[in-house]
Amino acid sequence: MAAYRTLRAITADDAYANLALAEQTAGLSARDAAFATELVAGSCRALGLYDAIIASAGGRPLRTLQPAVVDLLRLGAHQLLELRVPSHAAVAATVDLARVVLSQRVTGVVNAILRKISALDADAWAARLRRERTDADALLARHPQWIIDAYADLLPGSEIPALLAANNEPPIPHLVVRPGLAEVSELGGRPLRWSPFGATASGNPADLAAVNQGRAGVQDEGSQLVAWALTLVEAPAGPWLDLCAGPGGKAALLAGLARDKGERLVASELQPHRAALVGRALARYDEPGPIVIAADGARPAWPANRFARVLLDAPCTGLGALRRRPEARWRRKPADLDVLVPLQHELLASAINAAAPGGVIAYATCSPHRRETSEVVEAATGVEILDAPAVLPSIPDAGRGPYLQLWPHRHGTDAMFLALLRKAAPTQ
Ligand SMILES: C[S@@+](CC[C@H](N)C(=O)[O-])C[C@H]1O[C@@H](n2cnc3c(N)ncnc32)[C@H](O)[C@@H]1O
Repeated sequence: MAAYRTLRAITADDAYANLALAEQTAGLSARDAAFATELVAGSCRALGLYDAIIASAGGRPLRTLQPAVVDLLRLGAHQLLELRVPSHAAVAATVDLARVVLSQRVTGVVNAILRKISALDADAWAARLRRERTDADALLARHPQWIIDAYADLLPGSEIPALLAANNEPPIPHLVVRPGLAEVSELGGRPLRWSPFGATASGNPADLAAVNQGRAGVQDEGSQLVAWALTLVEAPAGPWLDLCAGPGGKAALLAGLARDKGERLVASELQPHRAALVGRALARYDEPGPIVIAADGARPAWPANRFARVLLDAPCTGLGALRRRPEARWRRKPADLDVLVPLQHELLASAINAAAPGGVIAYATCSPHRRETSEVVEAATGVEILDAPAVLPSIPDAGRGPYLQLWPHRHGTDAMFLALLRKAAPTQ
């Protein structure tokens, strides 16, 4: 029931899997919560694959089935094809669930389709899909073809299977200190490979005093590295700006590093509720602490030529963070780029406008897609592109020309992209 309700929230209401799961599994035993999590995460990752199998087994297009029935069948398919749940138990439990959450009327179709799915094992289904569909290999790798194509545009073909496999593994959470407020030794786990601010989580992060007290947080090492890189480049004195700060992960790291250098961070975010989250992430810094505002970064609430360092962690497709958001790969569509890319150009122009002459701008995305990374940066004017990989020389295989590009299968991080830009000083 918890898994079904979560999947419904994700597919019908666009809920985020992690938030919906936390809500639905509260109060369950650890074992039941883990099972519900696996059911939801596994079904979300393999959504396209299971939909193809359901359509093939049912002999009818998916749109002829009630959406709630499709969700039940996805959960059933995951148990039948990937988990070690005995077939009769997977079918019977799903049919019972259909009766309770929908009606007796739908139990027949649920039963019939699940029995057809259970008639073949995963290998036999793979062979059947390869005969039926041209995109079968992509579906079997649990990715839409257009996302695989976007990766293949950037990586040697021999690395793609490792990347797709890494995207299908839930990552070990990384923790990060708020500099000056906590020590890495308080985080408990193993220190991270390249970020001096973090450690792996060894239990539930919420059980750690430093996390509980807002002196540390959860943040992938890739995000720690791009925020840190901005602080390592030479830049004039002056305040720092985080233009798209919500929910505040990078701002929390930058605020402490700015304070170490005697500077102050302004953290700005369009959505007021996300700006409130930034405020919470920065709450433990004493006065004069960072300043948090809710503002449209494209219509600046600050003077031009003001900030020594500017972070633009742009809204993007998130194609580099699929490990942590199993549902995102099927929700995102190529057309999303047509909306995001113009916004990214606009926000980068605004970030450059906000930077002081000689100041540094970091353009980051949690997507490696060429259209929202290098192509955005290379269209910008009035800046020099700096050698970002040279700023963090100990990270191997992280160069993509002058840009830093991390990868889950190479670095164990999200596929973060970083460009470092210096604003031209005015010519006399
Ligand atoms: C990739 S997220 C930032 C993540 C954040 N830097 C962190 O590390 O926690 C992008 C953010 O940009 C915000 N955003 C979208 N359009 C914006 C705009 N026009 N101005 C400012 N922020 C915007 C989104 O609401 C979202 O919170």
